[in-house]
Amino acid sequence: MARFGSNKDEKRVKLEKGAYKRAMRIFKFISPYKGIFFIGIIFLILSSITSMGFPYLVGELFGTKDPSQIDTNVDWKEFEDTNLVMYLLFGVFIANAFFSFFRIYLFSIVTEKTLRDLRNRAFEKLIHSPISFFDKSKVGELSSRIATDINLLQELLMTTLAEFIRQWLTVIISTAVIAYTSPRLAIIMLSIVPIVLILTIIFGKAIKRLSKKAQDAAAESNSILGEVLSGIKNVKAFANESYEMVRYGNYNETIKSLSIKSAIWRGLFASFIIIGMFGAVSIVIWQGVLLLQTGELEMEEFIRFILFTVFLGASFGGIGTLLGAIQKAIGATERLMDIIYQDEEAKNENGITEDLKGNVTFENIGFFYETRPDVQVLNELNLNVQSGQSIAIVGPSGAGKSTLSSLLLRFYNPTSGTILFDGINATQYNIQSLRSNMAIVPQDVILFAGTILENIAYGNVDATEKQIFEAAKIANAFDFINAFPDGFNTLVGDRGIQLSGGQKQRIAIARAVLKNPKILILDEATSSLDSESEQLVQEALDRLMEGRTTFVIAHRLSTIKNADKIIVLEKGKLVESGTHDELVKHGGVYANLSSIQLG
Ligand SMILES: Nc1ncnc2c1ncn2[C@@H]1O[C@H](COP(=O)(O)OP(=O)(O)O)[C@@H](O)[C@H]1O
Ligand SMILES: [Mg+2]
Repeated sequence: MARFGSNKDEKRVKLEKGAYKRAMRIFKFISPYKGIFFIGIIFLILSSITSMGFPYLVGELFGTKDPSQIDTNVDWKEFEDTNLVMYLLFGVFIANAFFSFFRIYLFSIVTEKTLRDLRNRAFEKLIHSPISFFDKSKVGELSSRIATDINLLQELLMTTLAEFIRQWLTVIISTAVIAYTSPRLAIIMLSIVPIVLILTIIFGKAIKRLSKKAQDAAAESNSILGEVLSGIKNVKAFANESYEMVRYGNYNETIKSLSIKSAIWRGLFASFIIIGMFGAVSIVIWQGVLLLQTGELEMEEFIRFILFTVFLGASFGGIGTLLGAIQKAIGATERLMDIIYQDEEAKNENGITEDLKGNVTFENIGFFYETRPDVQVLNELNLNVQSGQSIAIVGPSGAGKSTLSSLLLRFYNPTSGTILFDGINATQYNIQSLRSNMAIVPQDVILFAGTILENIAYGNVDATEKQIFEAAKIANAFDFINAFPDGFNTLVGDRGIQLSGGQKQRIAIARAVLKNPKILILDEATSSLDSESEQLVQEALDRLMEGRTTFVIAHRLSTIKNADKIIVLEKGKLVESGTHDELVKHGGVYANLSSIQLG
């Protein structure tokens, strides 16, 4: 939770130090398009320069004469012709329009291509992240962060950066023109600018700090919203509406106060700019008029000076706001880059890819979760399963049964000990190939938004329609699916129909049938079913288990009586193992459970 959480202040201070550098890793993603970007920058510079032609020529206009009044014989100066200056002005507009169009077009090419690459890369990274990463971060927060961060980045690349460069160019050109036009007036003007600059930096920092806090609180409140909505039945069933309202309200309150605080700073900043700039302009006009009166300054120079001063002031004000936007975008970029550059799951691409026979051995397996190192979840666990055997795992909730299946799937590496598949250390295998030999039917089956056909095909995307129907038949699912008006094309998931637990379970079984795994894991697959659908599911499972090594986690003993071996886990330790009859005879934990459940 360190990176995506929000209340670890000392962590964040550390983050901010390298933030800029880490954000700069984005250049790797822009660099394929740097040619276009560079041309875009040139157009940007050209359009900025031509837009400076406006105040220059308008100033010039005041020094021109009616063309008929110009004495062409004596020292003809082209800038004295009012109409000619006007034509030039139009030329400048047209050039500016042309450059601006291409600036926007080229920047959007670079931005959109970069963002496409970034989105793909972020998705690829996330999908290849180790499961332990998802233990540490909230999924809702993660996805909304990525969405907002990408938006911020789009704004940065498309407008903020261009504006920033344009404003600075305006500042530089305006300063040069002002200094050239009247050094004396320029000195008065520029003596105010450094003060503005220093205050801009101070304001910018304060605003950034506050807006980051507000952003974090907003992410937190969004994740509560998501949690509550997706678990609305839970909230109501526990009558926890007021608890959730307080929880959400607290974050909302924080967002409000932080945003208002940041608004006060921004307001102060705006006021400061207004006083600073208007004050400066008035002083300059007053001094300028004095210079006009003594004839040290010409009217056209004065007008030009005033116009450029206005441009300068506006650009300076703009830079302050842009600075805030840039800092926000740097924060967003940094977080995106952290995701993109984080460690992927070690996949051992060059490892063994051979199909498994289905022998599994656990040797002295010890395990704890990184996020909870104080809880030893599995302890000195030894287990040997032959190919095709079914092994049942029994034990109270929290005993470590599901953890054991996670270790089989190599979602985590054991903290100590080794897992062997067909006598070979699990770490020797190519991880994806290893997983392709296994299938899991969990208690809560997640169906994707799509058709039932697509959901079954998830077990093997290359399967033919015929194979899918066959799998559905084996899974006892064919008949109920065909009973829907749309049959296999019935939509399920968020926008589709709701299936019962037993129906979902059978779709998951059909998926597993298609996958045709050597090792099958059933994690309380029938626990939440009523007895009628349990029977249908159990029948399907029995067919699925045939010829495969199967790990059956169950708390209903009736489903595991015929297992080749039953092990009893308690607090991560194997306390009993044997067949049903052996364990009943033994008279321990299992015998106890058995007499309660089976009578
Ligand atoms: N992702 C996780 N991160 C930290 N602790 C976990 C995680 N999953 C499970 N645990 C803890 O590990 C222990 C065993 O959990 P689990 O294997 O799910 O038990 P079972 O399936 O037997 O009910 C429990 O104490 C549980 O709180
Ligand atoms: Mg479990």
